[in-house]
Amino acid sequence: MSIVVVGSLNMDLTVSVRERPRTGETVLASDVRYAGGGKGANQAIAAARLGAGVDMVGKVGDDPFGATLIRNLGADGVGTAGVKVEPGVSSGVAFITIDAAGENQIIVSPGANARLTPEDVRAHAELISGARVLLLQLEIPLATVQAAAELAHKHGVTVILDPAPAQPLPEELLRLVDFLTPNEHEAAGLSGQPITDLKSARLAAAKLLSRGPRHVLLKLGERGVIYASGNRFEHLPAFPVQAVDTTAAGDAFGAAFAVAWLEEGDIYRALTFANAVGALAVTRPGAQPSLPYRKEVEMFLAARQG
Ligand code: RIB
Repeated sequence: MSIVVVGSLNMDLTVSVRERPRTGETVLASDVRYAGGGKGANQAIAAARLGAGVDMVGKVGDDPFGATLIRNLGADGVGTAGVKVEPGVSSGVAFITIDAAGENQIIVSPGANARLTPEDVRAHAELISGARVLLLQLEIPLATVQAAAELAHKHGVTVILDPAPAQPLPEELLRLVDFLTPNEHEAAGLSGQPITDLKSARLAAAKLLSRGPRHVLLKLGERGVIYASGNRFEHLPAFPVQAVDTTAAGDAFGAAFAVAWLEEGDIYRALTFANAVGALAVTRPGAQPSLPYRKEVEMFLAARQG
């Protein structure tokens, strides 16, 4: 085992719309699609499909969605001993609309994810202390994220935090983070620096670094990623692709970075690999159904890098 994910599992209910409704308005959409999601489970499955040994710590409700979400993880080889079923609670559900440009809007009902406690994490301390990388996001309580990060930090496990969905974060947590992987909205919120272009994104990354994380990977979607560490700032462009659905692209990016970083310890190769995985994920609909397998990523990179 090399990667442990502490985070959310959701059932995603997705519809495509031509235009989103205004307040008080009704619009018709496509048929609803059901697929496994949740930022935590997406990262776990993404990393497993790329060849890593992965365990997940999380919580689902005792409903049919919960059983399906655990089965999904197992089907991709993710260890589920750390995923608990909470009686009398609904599993997390995400309500997603996709517009004509492939951009999403997501409303999450956390359900059982909100019941994942620091004690639940400590009960699986050996999964975290025995891993090399801990992947965290923010769809579970902040105290639980903090407990997991503390455990990992204490045992020298690399902590990668995707600060999504956006929320204020204390320095106490940010100081434990090795790689912080915000998107533009999250970076702007956490740094107080509005982002309009690469220059302002670089400023936001610098401000984020001053809050504690060792490295910042600022995800800029189709404009690529900014890597910031100490006094170094690098911009890596994205691979141009036709986006059909951006859901889980950020999750895929973070998981792919973790896998490649673990394998080679080379920041630029890891970022290039992560960019490729993120690009592939946006070309397919859904969260978990869009996550590519290792072979596909290698073929994609070979075709683009010659
Ligand atoms: O990042 C995408 C994910 O966000 C979706 O799968 C949805 O469940 C929400 O958690």
